[in-house]
This record gives sequence, structure tokens and C-alpha cells, in this order.
Amino acid sequence: MGFYGEQVLPRIIDKACGTKTAEPLRRRVCADLAGDVIELGFGSGHNVPFYPAAVTRVTAVEPSDVGWRLAAGRVRAATVPVQRSGLDGQSLPFPDDSFDAALSTWTLCTIPDVGAALREVRRVLRPGGTLHFLEHGLAPDERVRRWQRRLEPVEYRLVGGCHFTRPIVDLLTAAGFTLGEVDVFYEQGAPKFAGADSLGTAVSP
Ligand SMILES: C[S@@+](CC[C@H](N)C(=O)[O-])C[C@H]1O[C@@H](n2cnc3c(N)ncnc32)[C@H](O)[C@@H]1O
Repeated sequence: MGFYGEQVLPRIIDKACGTKTAEPLRRRVCADLAGDVIELGFGSGHNVPFYPAAVTRVTAVEPSDVGWRLAAGRVRAATVPVQRSGLDGQSLPFPDDSFDAALSTWTLCTIPDVGAALREVRRVLRPGGTLHFLEHGLAPDERVRRWQRRLEPVEYRLVGGCHFTRPIVDLLTAAGFTLGEVDVFYEQGAPKFAGADSLGTAVSP
């Protein structure tokens, strides 16, 4: 990764992901987290203020050193211990059944082998453990999908390998998760091709 990917992009992502409009969505996806939690693609820690009191510890998986540095203030202010101890969601350095819950927000779009990452999350979750997700992906409407297919190559280049057309719910099912409630909607204030969100939970059997 060059200067743009290492130094510039994490700062752009910090600003783009740190909007006020995202906060109610972050509050919703974090609401029922409890126990020992793994957060995939921690970024600069914008979910930290929304961890509920029932969370006892968070393990952050994040490849970007700059992202992690930008998270420092939020990590210091956290009401639970937050530790970075993983760099790649595709290969998690933890034994099976290590965590009670997992959290992923706007991250599954970017991980190169998203199927491998979801299988890893499933492996490290205890049986019955829940993945809480808030992800953008393939839109419900064909007209929007056409724009997503057109614009995806540009997005991929500019935003560190981000995809618009990943079918989030199908990917979760293919990785062996059992879906809980899922809300599919267009995010307010975002163009539909970039803001086709899925928010919900998926249980590791
Ligand atoms: C769009 S950002 C979202 C950040 C954060 N989850 C949020 O909601 O603000 C995507 C994040 O995924 C991270 N990422 C990219 N590849 C990854 C991988 N292989 N494993 C884990 N995280 C990855 C990026 O470094 C970035 O922080």
C-alpha cells in the first residue's frame, strides 16, 4: 500500500464515517452487544461511544495503524477495555469459540475475501454468539444496482478496495450464519448506490 492508502485514506474514512447522521445507526447496531466482543474493521473507533454497559471487553481487528492512532481519544474515553489484537479479518489469531459477540460496520465491503472473514468470525464466536452488522451492499432495486455496477471500479480504486455490489445477507448465510432480524434501507443523506444498508444480527450455530 502506498502513501495514499496508508496515510490519506484512513483520514478520509475517519471523516466520512464520523458523521452525525451515522450515529443513530451505530447506536442501533451496538444496542444489544454484551460480553466479550470482537470488532472487525475497527477503523478509528466510531462505534466506541455506543458500546452498551453489558460489554465487558472489545478486541479490535484493524489493519491500519493510522486508523488505530486516530481512534486513541475514543479508546481512552471508552467505558470498557478496548485492545487492538488482530490485523486481518481473513485470518483471526484467536482460538475457536473465543467471543460472545462480534460487530462489523461498513467493513464487509472492503475485506478482499469477505467469505473467509465471515467464516473466521463464525469460528471465533461461541455457539449461539451473535454478529451485529451494519453494512452497505447490493441495492434492492435494479435501477440502483446498475449504477452500483458502473461506479464500483472507481470506488474500488479510490476507497481502498471498497465494493458496492456485495450481497450482504447472502454472504452471511453462505458463511453458515442464521439470520436474525435484518433491516434493509437506503441511508439518509447518502446516494442510493453507496447507502444501500443492511442492519441486523446473525447467529453462529
Ligand atoms: C469504511 S471503513 C469502516 C470503519 C469502521 N468500521 C466504522 O464504522 O467507522 C472499513 C474498515 O475496514 C478495514 N479493513 C480493510 N481490510 C480489512 C481486513 N482485511 N480486515 C479487517 N479490517 C479491514 C479498513 O482499514 C477500515 O478501517
